[in-house]
Amino acid sequence: MKILLASPIDQQTIEVLRSRHDIIDATNCEDRELERRIVDCEVLVFRSGVSITGRLLAAAPELKLLIRAGSGLDNIDLENLQRRQLPLLRIPEPGAQAVAELAFGLMLALSRQILVADRLLRQGRWAKHQLTGFLLAQKTLGVVGMGNIGSLLGRMGAAWKMQVKGCVEHPSAERAVNFLKDGLHLVSFEEVLLSADYLCICVPLKTSTNSLIGERELALLKPTAFLLNMARGGIVDEIALSNALRRNRLAGAALDVHQKEGENRISPLADLPNVVLTPHIGAMTVDSQREIGRRIIEIVDNFPVQQNIHAVPGQ
Ligand code: MLT
Repeated sequence: MKILLASPIDQQTIEVLRSRHDIIDATNCEDRELERRIVDCEVLVFRSGVSITGRLLAAAPELKLLIRAGSGLDNIDLENLQRRQLPLLRIPEPGAQAVAELAFGLMLALSRQILVADRLLRQGRWAKHQLTGFLLAQKTLGVVGMGNIGSLLGRMGAAWKMQVKGCVEHPSAERAVNFLKDGLHLVSFEEVLLSADYLCICVPLKTSTNSLIGERELALLKPTAFLLNMARGGIVDEIALSNALRRNRLAGAALDVHQKEGENRISPLADLPNVVLTPHIGAMTVDSQREIGRRIIEIVDNFPVQQNIHAVPGQ
């Protein structure tokens, strides 16, 4: 099959695919170049950082399958896809563990001031007595969006003796009972905000979650709370967050995703010492990317004999 790689994926996977298929590399291409290279491709493999627009899809009359090498669907024109009845397969599971682990790392970095300690020590400063931190144990982990990643993070938090409170878009008594089996308490969005010591945003970006965390929501947080955005930049209003941090309305924040992502984009939070910034590396573990790659090979090799192919999948 002729496969267009619109985003970087695991290198070993590319080599295996290349030995069996015709691979067109379009990673880091501008939109117009992408439209040129996709013309006779049958499969499109992509991640975040590239826009799968109606225009791109229109430039690909041979396209039979789209593979999202990960989770988010915020960069795809889903209506257009549905109109074309093009199947889209997501591979969300392998990245979830990696994102949840990074969230934990960021919580620890914030609560123990690990980056500040490192910076000071490199300058020869032994700030041991200024660098007191907080335990995660016995604190409340608030999870906005207890889906794939959020519920995993919640279970990790519970194992670390955190009190876990989370919300979902469609709560039900049955879901509450199931969450409780893992020590996760299903509560309202407002209660998550009001009670969290560590607030972790894990919802996908869509119309209902766009700017979900703005001035009003930040004002509900405890001034001692830390906020982590592991989802998408558009969900947290970074200017409102920056104002809240500058007014000490919040203890700190960690962002793996940003309103503006890519080379040479500086976050409005970059000058704040109580903020940790990472460049959307949540799913970037060798293990997760290799497993995603293994599944891409399986999907492509078995196509069109494929179970669970939906024109537009639910999330
Ligand atoms: C995802 O949605 O799977 C993640 O953001 C990882 C990515 O696509 O880079």
